[in-house]
Amino acid sequence: MTNLENETLVEMRHICKEFGRGRQTTVAVADVSFAVRSGETAVLIGPSGSGKTTLLTLAAGLTSPSAGELYLFAKPFDAYQPRELQKLRSRNIGFIFQTFRLLDPLTVLENLILTGKFAGVSRVEASADAARLLSKLRIENLADAYPFQLSQGEKQRVAAARAMINGPRLIIADEPTANLESKQALSLFELLREYVKQSRCGLLVATHDQRILSFADRILRIEDGLLAPRVSLEYYNQAWNLYY
Ligand SMILES: Nc1ncnc2c1ncn2[C@@H]1O[C@H](COP(=O)(O)OP(=O)(O)O)[C@@H](O)[C@H]1O
Ligand SMILES: [Mg+2]
Repeated sequence: MTNLENETLVEMRHICKEFGRGRQTTVAVADVSFAVRSGETAVLIGPSGSGKTTLLTLAAGLTSPSAGELYLFAKPFDAYQPRELQKLRSRNIGFIFQTFRLLDPLTVLENLILTGKFAGVSRVEASADAARLLSKLRIENLADAYPFQLSQGEKQRVAAARAMINGPRLIIADEPTANLESKQALSLFELLREYVKQSRCGLLVATHDQRILSFADRILRIEDGLLAPRVSLEYYNQAWNLYY
């Protein structure tokens, strides 16, 4: 991690991920190689069931590959001790889950503060960071609300705030704009991009949202667990309707 300007945050070499055993085996990711570097926005597209979520959970160190080499922050996945991996995830990786995974018994503010505390930030500091982020996302009025009181779009923005609160080096987002109307989707994505530019972190996003393609430095298309060869943005714009 010496060269922060062009750090390789995640690298996959011939990664395969299978679920189940024997005749029940599902190959979610067949043979995937790619890297995400600091300052880069990589967008992963592909039909439902093509392996996008599985690939993101591998990139976040939430699951282990069945085969291939996975490097997180230049270190082999297998070389991490469980506690070290937990620390890496809480401090350096922000994950926006498709299903949000907000903690229902806690208010929005408490959800964010708890994430800060997991990363070793004091309550006072985490509270200030949370307030700043909520205001930036224009949801400061929701600080004392509980998840069940929020709309899908509001939950998504809270999930984004939670992913950013610890100043991660890598943000991974699974369909982050799926529940947002156009204006909200763009403003959420602009905020994520602004964070990427300011902090030179990496952003890996899986999406069905064509509006997001214009923000991508790199587009990765996955189908049946395999990445398609690299083609131009124009191609994707033209081909989009064939896939969705
Ligand atoms: N935990 C799991 N157990 C069994 N099969 C799974 C599991 N997670 C994903 N799969 C299967 O792996 C394939 C890829 O799923 P997923 O990564 O969720 O795709 P996507 O996010 O592109 O829709 C699908 O066939 C899915 O049913
Ligand atoms: Mg998915």
